[in-house]
Amino acid sequence: MKQVFVIGAHGKVAKHFADFVAKNDNLSEKAMIRKSEQADFFQERQIEPVLLDLAATDEDELAKAMEGSDVVIFSAGAGGSGTDNIFTIDLDGAIKAMIAAEMAGIKRFIMVSTFRTGREWMQQDTLRSYTIAKHYADEWLRNRTELDWTIVHPGVLIDEPGTGKVKVGGVGEVADIDLSLTDNAFGDVDLQVPRQDIAHVLQAILFMDSTIGKEIEVIQGETPIEEAIQTI
Ligand SMILES: NC(=O)c1ccc[n+]([C@@H]2O[C@H](COP(=O)([O-])OP(=O)(O)OC[C@H]3O[C@@H](n4cnc5c(N)ncnc54)[C@H](OP(=O)(O)O)[C@@H]3O)[C@@H](O)[C@H]2O)c1
Repeated sequence: MKQVFVIGAHGKVAKHFADFVAKNDNLSEKAMIRKSEQADFFQERQIEPVLLDLAATDEDELAKAMEGSDVVIFSAGAGGSGTDNIFTIDLDGAIKAMIAAEMAGIKRFIMVSTFRTGREWMQQDTLRSYTIAKHYADEWLRNRTELDWTIVHPGVLIDEPGTGKVKVGGVGEVADIDLSLTDNAFGDVDLQVPRQDIAHVLQAILFMDSTIGKEIEVIQGETPIEEAIQTI
């Protein structure tokens, strides 16, 4: 049985993940939430909620909360709540989570990043601060930790039900995008992927150690998820 500590547990992707956990006898979850009214959703699924605000906590407190878990999934995000929150959650919050995981002796860390985080993507007006935050969080995970990491780069997240099928690849592999032709690269409909499928991908990654040290782009596609992740 693997226990997963999920940061951003009440987010839209992570709630789908909780549904997968509830149906999987080999998984349990500690769900980090920041509002007590979010607890019922998890209790109904026999998942333990942990009330903690990523912006207000420090590494020590976070490490204590993580103790006993085998894996950390970082799926928190500031969403559209402004630059201040982007740097507090998507960058500093992510790095705090990595430091805390190492303090708690947890090796496995799965990051829900964004689609493209390379320097060229930071030049875009839309999503610039967000991309910068995600870029350096990914960079920290790859280069400043000893964690067994996997970085997931989802395309444009949509709320339609999952299909159980995706297209995956390494960075830059799942789609060719000419940045000079668009100032909103994330608006390309071909990059969509249901949040439920990303949650399914997270579950698959947990059981495939071949994904350690890998970055995986995910958009909608035709390959069953477990099969797709096996090719990574
Ligand atoms: N939108 C896209 O197309 C897209 C594409 C690629 C990647 N992503 C990334 O994918 C990830 C998951 O996406 P999603 O749609 O599931 O996001 P979401 O629904 O916005 O979930 C983000 C979660 O982070 C939590 N959070 C924010 N600030 C927090 C804090 N101070 N302490 C603790 N938790 C906090 C939120 O808590 P509350 O529920 O309390 O607000 C929320 O549950 C995000 O990192 C996002 O940036 C998004």
